[in-house]
Formats: sequence, structure tokens, C-alpha cells
Amino acid sequence: MAVNYRAPRGTRDILPEEVGLWRHLEETARAIFTRAGYGETRTPIFEDTELFLRSTGEDTDIVEKEMYTLERADGASITLRPEGTPSIARAYIEHDLAKQAPFRKFFYVGPMFRYERPQAGRSRQFHQAGVEAFGSDSPLLDVETIDLAAQFFDAIGLTGYEVRINSIGCAGCRGDFRQLLRSRLESRRSQLCENCQRRFERNVFRILDCKEEGCRGIIVTLPVVADHLCPACAEHWREVQAGLKALGRPYVHDPHLVRGLDYYTRTVYEFVHGGLGARNAVCGGGRYDNLVGELGGAQVGGIGFAVGFEPTIAALSGEAREQATRTGSRAGLDVYVVRASDEARLLTLQLAHELRQAGFASDLDFEGRSLKAQMRSANRLQARFALILGEEELARGTVTVREMATASQESVPRGEVSEWLRRRTAARPGSTS
Ligand code: HAM
Repeated sequence: MAVNYRAPRGTRDILPEEVGLWRHLEETARAIFTRAGYGETRTPIFEDTELFLRSTGEDTDIVEKEMYTLERADGASITLRPEGTPSIARAYIEHDLAKQAPFRKFFYVGPMFRYERPQAGRSRQFHQAGVEAFGSDSPLLDVETIDLAAQFFDAIGLTGYEVRINSIGCAGCRGDFRQLLRSRLESRRSQLCENCQRRFERNVFRILDCKEEGCRGIIVTLPVVADHLCPACAEHWREVQAGLKALGRPYVHDPHLVRGLDYYTRTVYEFVHGGLGARNAVCGGGRYDNLVGELGGAQVGGIGFAVGFEPTIAALSGEAREQATRTGSRAGLDVYVVRASDEARLLTLQLAHELRQAGFASDLDFEGRSLKAQMRSANRLQARFALILGEEELARGTVTVREMATASQESVPRGEVSEWLRRRTAARPGSTS
């Protein structure tokens, strides 16, 4: 029986034709974050499940229904990371980094896993580039992170995004606000969705992030937390906005933005794009002043964000996508070695081998195709030179070098080909030599 294997739903292959786009996004993020002093960090793809329960939060959609969790026979429970923040916080604590220098900046690029309904820009294995900074409660750091995300989107040519920000205060302001929410929702409890009825008891604040239409209708009539901040949080919020203005970064205050993860305090933000439908965020982030402390580390403030590559790619214009793909792809050969006689078979491989070792991108035919077909391949692969080996060249110990763009040909002694190429390609931008 023929079996039709396909990539699992919500995942996809990124083939060589497309990988340049991904590489460009990854490398742009790396360059921008590194330039601002963030250090690349690679943590495991899976963690103890408990880490996400404690940090992402038990009442969040992610923990309630989206985690890929594996219960092992020995009783251990591990989960494919649904986000990067908890792992970086764990690493910061585990390696006692606060002791060396409490203020540290990290970034990461890689796959995350959530069991979500696949739709425009949303998948089950998706890819994020994110930053996390621990050890400061300065509002300037909030501004720096928002600016970095914006720099990333600008650099890859994304237009039409909007920065939405809000402050959800600290545990102190939220304590009083919770009471207010409960009293305002008490009489409308039965109109809330099933999840929110449960949240009313366990974590009333989470109701504010419900995406159900019925609940949204109620949520917009509720008081907003930014109007109930304590003096310190109000000052922080004022300074974040002043900082964004000073950098000339436009933003919109969205008083209903609360974000769907439990660890946030004070500043929260999202970058949204109109072309994406209901799940319209290309980036989400915010401050988490209690996260490290709650995971058993020092009581230090922190903030970060993650950009989602799938939604970002979905939001890019066709033109920007092509440009990014071109920039990120390493297509283009220096050399295509052409076999013009069967006797030259082994020599073509030898020559390609030598040239690759000398640093030239080189390829050759493995399908026994005609001279004409090999020249077509050289063209298709954008080789700068075709190196032709036929009977005559074998007899004379030479190679015929043809520059593809001009069709000019030259005979070069075999032992000097690499040196000859080095001289000719020295001026070529992007050349490997
Ligand atoms: P998040 O809002 O869950 O936050 O995800 C950040 C971004 O990742 C979203 O805005 C979206 O672009 C993308 N994303 C999320 N889920 C999917 C999915 N299923 N498919 C495609 N893209 C997706 C976090 O993950 C936090 N860790 C961000 C953060 C870092 N906060 C502080 N530091």
C-alpha cells in the first residue's frame, strides 16, 4: 500500500528556494540584537513541564491547551518549549548570572511549539527571535526593547505595522483592580464563556485577554488597569511613553491590551499588522518584574519580546519578501565544471574538489548529461565561470575557462586554475575568495 507521508499539520518544510528569506530574518535579528549588547543564547528545545506551569502560567491558553507534553515512563514530564522566556530565565538563575553582573541581556532565535489551530501566519511549530534583559527596572530598557523590535521590522522592509502599548501595573495595583473587576463582573458572570467563568474564580485578570466574542463585548465596558496604577507604576508608564516620543517611535495606547501570559507587569506591547486577520501580532512583549524571583532567583526586574517569523513573513509585501530572499540566499556559483569528454569524468570531480577546498563555490554534473545541457546548468545555477575539460584539454593539461556573462574563453594550465580564479574574482562582491 502506498503511504502518503506529509509534514504534520501545522508544520512545514522550508526548501532551499525559500531558505534565503529565513536566513535573512535570522541574520538581521542577530545583527540588530548583537549591536545593542544582547548575547545569543541557546537553550534546550524541551524543558521540565513544571517550568512553564510556574512561569507562562497555569491559567493561560498556552498551558491549558497548547503544550506538547511528553510523560515519560519514569514519571518525568517534559514539554517542547512553547516560548523562549522561561528557558532564558531558568538559565539566568541556574548559572547564577545575577551574582556576576545582575544586569544581563540575552537573545535567541529558534523554533517554538504550540498546539494551535493553523491559520494565516500561525502554526504549531513556529519560529521566534526574541530578547530578554534581566536586572533593571528602568523604563528606558522598555523603550530600548520596543525600539529594537521596530528596527528589526524596518530593516527587513515590513511596512504598515502598528505598535500598541499599555501598562498593566504591578501586583500591588492589580490587587485593588482585581476587586474592582470582580465587583463589575459579578452580575454578568453567567454571560461569560466557560473558561472565563472559571477564570472569575481563579484569576479574574485573565478574563481581559479572552478572545471570545461574547466576552470581548463585556470586556470593552470594564474599567482599564492603566487608570488604576500606583504612583510608581504611573511614573514608569509616563517615562516609557516619553522615551518612545524621544526616539520618534510612534505608538498607540491600547488600554485593553493585557497579553496572554501570566508573568507580565507594568509595560506590555504588541506589534500588529492589518494584513493578518484576527491573530494579527507579529511581535509581543513586556516587562516581568517578578518572574526571576518567582522561579527561585534574585528579585530582579526584566523585560523582553519575541518576534514571530511566520506572521512576519505573512505580513511582508511580495516585493519585500523577494528582496529579503535575494539578500539571504547564497545562490550563485563561482564555477561549474563541465565534462566535454567521458575520459574527463574523474578529473571534473577532482577539479571541483580542489576548487571547493580553495574556497570557490563549485559544482558539476552527476547525471551524465550532454555538453549543452551542462552549459544550461551552469547558467541556471548562475555560475560565473564554466570550466571545460575535454579531450584537447586533457592532452594539453589545460582547462578552458569560459566567463558566462561575456562568453569569452581562455585556456589556463590546470595547476594554475585556482590562482587564475582568485585574481579574477577578487573584485567580485560576495565572492568567496
Ligand atoms: P507571544 O505573544 O506568545 O509572546 O508570542 C510572540 C509572537 O510570536 C507573537 O506575537 C506571534 O508573532 C508569534 N507567535 C506566537 N504563537 C505563534 C504561532 N502559533 N504561530 C506563529 N507565530 C506565533 C511570547 O512568546 C513571549 N515569550 C514574548 C516575550 C518575551 N515576552 C517577554 N519576553
